[in-house]
Amino acid sequence: METSLHDNLPIASQGASSLDSRSAEVPFPTFMRKIPPLQYGSLSLKTRFLLAPLAGYTNLPFRRIVRELGGVGLATTDLVNARGLLTENPGSTFLISTAPDDSPLSVQIFGNEPSVMAEAAQYLEARGYASIDINMGCPVDRITKGGAGASMMCRVDQTIGLVQCVVEAVRIPVTVKMRLGWDETQLTAPRFAREFEQVGVAAITIHGRTRAQGFSGTVDRDGIRQVVAAVDRIPVIGNGDIRSIADAERMFRETGCQGIAIGRGALANPWFFRQLSEWETTGTVTPPGGFDDRLSLLHRQFLHLEELLGAHKAVSSFRKMGHWYLKSMRVRSALRHQFQMSKTKPELLASLEMIRQTGPAQGDRHGTLDDMHIPVPAGPNERW
Ligand SMILES: Cc1cc2nc3c(=O)[nH]c(=O)nc-3n(C[C@H](O)[C@H](O)[C@H](O)COP(=O)(O)O)c2cc1C
Repeated sequence: METSLHDNLPIASQGASSLDSRSAEVPFPTFMRKIPPLQYGSLSLKTRFLLAPLAGYTNLPFRRIVRELGGVGLATTDLVNARGLLTENPGSTFLISTAPDDSPLSVQIFGNEPSVMAEAAQYLEARGYASIDINMGCPVDRITKGGAGASMMCRVDQTIGLVQCVVEAVRIPVTVKMRLGWDETQLTAPRFAREFEQVGVAAITIHGRTRAQGFSGTVDRDGIRQVVAAVDRIPVIGNGDIRSIADAERMFRETGCQGIAIGRGALANPWFFRQLSEWETTGTVTPPGGFDDRLSLLHRQFLHLEELLGAHKAVSSFRKMGHWYLKSMRVRSALRHQFQMSKTKPELLASLEMIRQTGPAQGDRHGTLDDMHIPVPAGPNERW
């Protein structure tokens, strides 16, 4: 009789609540021992827990602090315009900024011209990036109207031709990140996955929603499972709404994926990758950091940003992310306001010091922080 990857998992005895990422003891996921280590072509990844791109947030400073905490197998840049890379447009060049502690790094490119995409991939290979990811999931009109992002899921032959052209242009692994399809009537992901494997794509990340869904509704794990079933050898990475160890366990168990990519959950809990890695290897998960730890992360992230942008720009560009952090840390609104109003590095650091001395408005400074609400583009895709 054939055994499945998941035969050893006592599903019934594992209630979701007992697998919450905040509890110190979680059942050892025996079934995961049977999942092979994650390999993108010739690139071996240290863990199967990957940071998904969140344009505007998962930038170099954020990647560095998450990687410092441990457990990240691979991170990917924001989507970068392939043509912008080749013309060395400052915005595109900024997006591929990296550092020695930001490795392995995949650069995600978008575009609709095979030769430009292939040349952009060669440009990146020559500069030492570990992997290239092709964006086929972005639902935003600005990207899809130009024939890139999720709209590639509507043109089978052209898209396969483009992906093949990129794969053949470089030796480093080329991967694709896509959604389940354009809408529920066109669930093309399994077909694309099969074809991509044939042309040499090294792995596929699949966000379990359609383009029409945007970020609404729930992730369709059965749709992800069908993508896993469609390929023979290459790893499929499950993605969408993974915020706790229970969510991760469900994604692996129900889809058969070999890895998971986490976007918003990483902003909410940068310790999540370390916890997942502990869960997979020992079954004992250390709690995420508390108030003081989060504040020190915030400080370090700012310093990394300053290194990249200089103090003046770093202060203004850190306000949005800093504000979210402080809200989930239950920092009093007057202190949050002071932080938001900072115009210089000394003002920003003084406001952080005041926050440190005052502590949270409710709860103690050592307890687990509230879950963070991450805003997503809402409303019709056209208006994002
Ligand atoms: C603000 C925001 C920006 C995003 N930017 C990108 C991007 O640049 N490239 C991409 O492939 N996906 C992007 N995504 C999609 C995420 O990578 C991910 O597929 C999606 O958020 C579901 O995963 P999550 O629930 O873990 O966040 C973005 C999502 C959000 C909310």
